[in-house]
Amino acid sequence: MEKVSLLNGIFKDSQEKGMEYLLYLDVDRLIAPCYEAVGKPPKKPRYGGWESTGISGHSIGHWLSAAATMYSLTSNEQLKQKLDYAIEELEIVQSFDDKGYVSGFSRSCFDLVFTGEFEVDNFSLSGGWVPWYSIHKIYAGLIDTYNLTGNEKALAIVIKLADWAKNGTDQLTDEQFQKMLICEHGGMNEAMADLYMITKNKDYLELAKRFCHQSILQPLANEVDELQGKHANTQIPKVIGAAKLYEITGDKTYKKMAQFFWKQVTRHRSYVIGGNSINEHFGPSDTEELGITTTETCNTYNMLKLTEHLFHWSQDVEYIDYYERALYNHILASQDPDSGMKTYFVSTQPGHFKVYCSPDESFWCCTGTGMENPARYTRNIYYLKQNDLFVNLFIASEIKLPEQNIHLKQETSFPESDKTRLIFEHAKQQQITLHIRVPNWTAGPVIVTVNNEKKFVSTENGYIKIDEKWNSGDVIEIELPMNLYLSPSKSDPLKAAILYGPIVLAGALGTKDFPKSDILADHLSLNNHPLIDVPDIVTDDKDLLNWIKRVENQPLEFITDGVGQPGNVSIKLIPFYKLHHQRYTIYWNIMDKETYQTFVDKEKEEQARLREITIDVVNPNEQQPEVEHGIKKKNSRSGYLNLFNKGWRDSINEGYFSYEMKVEQGQMYLLVTYSGNDTTLHEDGKAYQRDFSLLIDGTVIAQQILKANQPGKLFDECYPIPLSLTNGKEKVEVKFVSKEGKVAGGVYGLRMIN
Ligand code: AHR
Ligand code: ZN
Repeated sequence: MEKVSLLNGIFKDSQEKGMEYLLYLDVDRLIAPCYEAVGKPPKKPRYGGWESTGISGHSIGHWLSAAATMYSLTSNEQLKQKLDYAIEELEIVQSFDDKGYVSGFSRSCFDLVFTGEFEVDNFSLSGGWVPWYSIHKIYAGLIDTYNLTGNEKALAIVIKLADWAKNGTDQLTDEQFQKMLICEHGGMNEAMADLYMITKNKDYLELAKRFCHQSILQPLANEVDELQGKHANTQIPKVIGAAKLYEITGDKTYKKMAQFFWKQVTRHRSYVIGGNSINEHFGPSDTEELGITTTETCNTYNMLKLTEHLFHWSQDVEYIDYYERALYNHILASQDPDSGMKTYFVSTQPGHFKVYCSPDESFWCCTGTGMENPARYTRNIYYLKQNDLFVNLFIASEIKLPEQNIHLKQETSFPESDKTRLIFEHAKQQQITLHIRVPNWTAGPVIVTVNNEKKFVSTENGYIKIDEKWNSGDVIEIELPMNLYLSPSKSDPLKAAILYGPIVLAGALGTKDFPKSDILADHLSLNNHPLIDVPDIVTDDKDLLNWIKRVENQPLEFITDGVGQPGNVSIKLIPFYKLHHQRYTIYWNIMDKETYQTFVDKEKEEQARLREITIDVVNPNEQQPEVEHGIKKKNSRSGYLNLFNKGWRDSINEGYFSYEMKVEQGQMYLLVTYSGNDTTLHEDGKAYQRDFSLLIDGTVIAQQILKANQPGKLFDECYPIPLSLTNGKEKVEVKFVSKEGKVAGGVYGLRMIN
């Protein structure tokens, strides 16, 4: 990566924007929660958004990784000074803790965990919000700072922090350790493996192995896909850690885990832009369910990392085909080129828009990985394996390989142009085998000419191999024919996306009813913003080249004939990575005229009906919806049922769970979704009747008993809320309460409607 630099082009522009944000951020504000965590006053107030919640501190970790990486590419002195300052500050903070702990929240939840007596669920551990996830970012940031800038203090801090983790977790039995791993823990196994690589201290390798979450990784090793309903971004880093452990130990079980997971996610669980997840979770295999909260951006950051490992093991072009798709259409597309702000979810809901973080008030997980992405663009353009140099991506860049005495430049405006040129700026009879990628999207033979003389032609997805002795001035020209084609949705035969080469084209649908700003502190606040009607594409002509034309002198802009219905409208198509601050769709209903006569988009109608009446929604068992609705709980459990493709929550014995939900003035109703299969629960030789109370702000509004009277189905119960309980309020607490020997729920969904 450090041997490659970007030349002018879309990635360089995006990288420069990324750099601006890294320089803009105030290290004192990022470190403020770390001071507070050890009971010391911070130098400046902490940032808002997630940096003002229990996950705080994750952003300084991401910033360290991003800044170290960016510095290794650019040698920007200002950034280096900030980075060194951040490390000095962290060293000071760490000196206040007798055990070497440093992070953005108090140590107390870990202290409790290390006693072995702790409460855990998917996103909370001893009352902390994903504490290992958050602190993992600090581990990774310190390791990157050491590896990429040689900062010894960073290494000393992370060693102390790792020793704290080791001493603490040494007190846990393997069973307790695995129980702790139920809660999201980022890439702790990867961080410990990295630290082992640096120090060769076997303790860290052992700890890396202990941090492997067996109930997720073992099925993968056995090639069993149990991913449906699992929180996606929780799992990907576990697999990256496994990949690293394979590289260190040679144990093929880890390799199998990584390979199987990658295959399942990229082939069966990804959207056309290369991202995955709906409401942060994996849905059923081979589906592309559209929605506003789809394709979380962190997930793709992590999938690219994983892909890199797999490519390193075997130079199979499928890895780079995926990498390129996701890099252009998700990662590059996720940064607003004007403000440099990043997306969290990328909506696949037709007619919606991108929502970006605010510079000071968001600090979502994807703000963090979003800081890192632009610093990673030089990765995997090239890959060197002894004397074999793979040219994987067609990105304007140069690579300097002093050991080989080679300086190679790639000049291109790809994907606006379908050509790229490799120029040996420096080489002297240097024997290198070039492998030029033939992507899976080419619309004709890839033609490679060397010094206008030798010609290589290939139609086969893979690599063209050129074995030569190279000299300064040698030029290799590559033609990569691109064209338009459809990528059908995995689950809906009428839906498809339109691509040009690797580039997903989006319908540029304008700014009708557009919100005042799409740069937001709260990423959910525009989810109920009115949508617009998106035209369906109706044509009997199967060849899209007949009805989509390139717009002259506008790079990669296309316009359709009047195939958009209703109204015979023409549709403008532009690369999704270029589409910002307007509405779009990337999935279209495409059909012939006869089908259109009787076509009713039932899903769209139902969604429109619900949007109209909905004030607020909570999906149980999903972390953001639950955290953002201020979940409180006791003796509560949650899970996911494949049968309904839905999460649930209940409470047992003297227990409860509650959410803060928005209300408006006027009559409100609470719609609660239950399973028609649920009835008395038999557990531990006891029978627990599902008999519970529903309370609004402490007042019981209903008593519910579930008796399995709608087998095989989910059903909704609608509870009117007395006006006196909502009058003058913006929010109410919705609470389900179970008594001793009873169960409340399972609740599969909550919707406040009017
Ligand atoms: O829980 C921490 C992060 O926040 C998760 O990895 C991400 O999916 C979520 O939104
Ligand atoms: Zn994220």
